[in-house]
Amino acid sequence: MERPPVWLMRQAGRILPQYRAIRSSLSGFKELLFTPSLAAEVTVQPVDELDVDAAIIFSDILVIPECMGLDYEMVEKKGPLFNQTIQSSKDVEQLISGQIAAEKLEYVFEAIRLTKDLLDNRVPLIGFSGAPWTLLAYMVEGSGSKTFSKAKRLLYKDPELAHKLLNAITDTIIAYLKLKIKNGVDTIQLFDSWAGILTPDLYNNFAAPYLAKICKAIDEVPVIVFAKGAWFSFDVLAEMECEALGVDWTIDPKFARKAAKDKILQGNLDPCQLYADEKQIESKTQAMLEQFGQGHIANLGHGVYPDTPLNGVKTYVNTVKNYKYSS
Ligand code: CP3
Repeated sequence: MERPPVWLMRQAGRILPQYRAIRSSLSGFKELLFTPSLAAEVTVQPVDELDVDAAIIFSDILVIPECMGLDYEMVEKKGPLFNQTIQSSKDVEQLISGQIAAEKLEYVFEAIRLTKDLLDNRVPLIGFSGAPWTLLAYMVEGSGSKTFSKAKRLLYKDPELAHKLLNAITDTIIAYLKLKIKNGVDTIQLFDSWAGILTPDLYNNFAAPYLAKICKAIDEVPVIVFAKGAWFSFDVLAEMECEALGVDWTIDPKFARKAAKDKILQGNLDPCQLYADEKQIESKTQAMLEQFGQGHIANLGHGVYPDTPLNGVKTYVNTVKNYKYSS
């Protein structure tokens, strides 16, 4: 390729006025999630508006806990809130898992089929899942948290229960991703958003083995593993059977390249960089592209923040699109 491809995590969302228009006509986030025609429409919006090189299906990582039997509400301006949480072995035994759970997510598969029609092969469609540890964190904690100390407490106090839950989540994710692929997604990204709050020891025991199992099971399409904050386990991630590793903004691209060997790297401009003026966005983006060199997918170091000026986002995307590798 003459330049790296570019897309943004959370590109289908509140940065776009056309997303906010649809969203404000609905009762809430979950209505959008459960309405395939609208989910497909907002998935394609950033392709039309920003001319990014990939679409990511509009959905959420929390569809997995929900199909396993844990219902949640998305509280406006606060985030997810679960009605029950996992505290005991009995709680895990009451969960549904694997194929039966995954098949309940037909509304996601329908959104994928509709999106593929709307995209008409203009760009590939990315499917995704939360990683097992990140999903356990929500299922045990019951909401977002700065520390996820209740979820971490489980790892220290009852590792056996944690592994039992991680196994059930992993089986469900694999069945779910296979169905997503069957319905048309071209690649998969695994979001381990809370990787960075674990110690290397906890990460290598409770997170990495389950990610590795998923990577091994998904051999139909390329897989991107994004373990935010887990620079300390980059060498472990580099051993997984995935094609690409996400890089957050705290990681030096040279460090990532060395640890990741020949894997494709994705990232890593600080989302807050897009609050700056155009000239600065251009020069910092070019500097980032130069540091990564070939074998790179341009993205931010995490999801784009909802209050980012649309112009800043466009400057970023256009800078990548106008870039040329020096040969
Ligand atoms: O464009 C895309 O990236 C696709 C859609 C997408 C959403 N969520 C839509 C969404 C993806 C890939 C996700 C993943 C997701 N969801 C993650 C992993 C990625 C990350 O950010 O680390 C996590 C941790 C969640 C859980 C979640 N969903 C939270 C904590 C929240 C509330 C916080 C917030 O941003 O408001 C959500 C809601 C959510 N998911 C929104 C969107 C566009 C906001 C919805 C709205 O109010 O309209």
